[in-house]
Amino acid sequence: MSPEHGGTRASVNPLAPPGVYAPQEDTELLAGALSDEPVPPGADVLDVGTGSGALALEAARRGMRVTAVDVSWRAVCATRLNALVAGVPVRVRRGNLFDPVRDRSFDLILANPPYVPAPGDGRPPRGAARAWDAGADGRLVLDRICREAPALLRPGGVLLLVQSALSGPELTLGHLREAGLKAAVTRRRHIAFGPVLRARERWLRERGLLPPTGDKEELVVVRAELPV
Ligand SMILES: C[S@@+](CC[C@H](N)C(=O)[O-])C[C@H]1O[C@@H](n2cnc3c(N)ncnc32)[C@H](O)[C@@H]1O
Repeated sequence: MSPEHGGTRASVNPLAPPGVYAPQEDTELLAGALSDEPVPPGADVLDVGTGSGALALEAARRGMRVTAVDVSWRAVCATRLNALVAGVPVRVRRGNLFDPVRDRSFDLILANPPYVPAPGDGRPPRGAARAWDAGADGRLVLDRICREAPALLRPGGVLLLVQSALSGPELTLGHLREAGLKAAVTRRRHIAFGPVLRARERWLRERGLLPPTGDKEELVVVRAELPV
């Protein structure tokens, strides 16, 4: 999560200008899961919600053919610049989730979406908070990914997704299994609350999303594979 939201910055570290999500512990956790994945060079990879392009660049360095999508123009520009500086090819598109790639299919989909439960009036988040705020239950984007990603996977294709334990990983697993995928939590990490969680700690505890005490949040990686 962001320093705004979570803890320390991650070791994956491309340029993230103001308003673009700088790689954090969730990025790093997902990058670790990516490094475990035996994806061959030339495989088609989608990084949805690419931010600074950190994950897209990791995949491109391994010779995968990467498409990166973000709803934010700043993120799109940052990813293009970071790919140029790194000297790796990444196709970058601006758009809402899977809209720019509806006609395509992938061997691997990477997603570090917004997943923090947020108080509000139900309207979609704006500005930098679009990177982490995800509605009252944190599932505004997660549920769409669960609904829409399976149709974009090739047989044997894999979705790797990182989220908080606050936003219902069991729901993610359930939805993906209903869609016919083999899904499991493959990585977990506890991180200290950052400023965003601290600022809404009371609200989260009142709603039962956080236990009465404690100052750690659990991140999980969900891996879901479409059977051949
Ligand atoms: C938590 S950040 C992750 C950034 C990067 N993938 C990483 O791991 O460091 C989430 C990203 O998703 C983007 N995003 C949020 N809603 C989106 C949507 N509906 N469609 C595409 N991108 C979206 C945000 O702009 C932000 O860049």
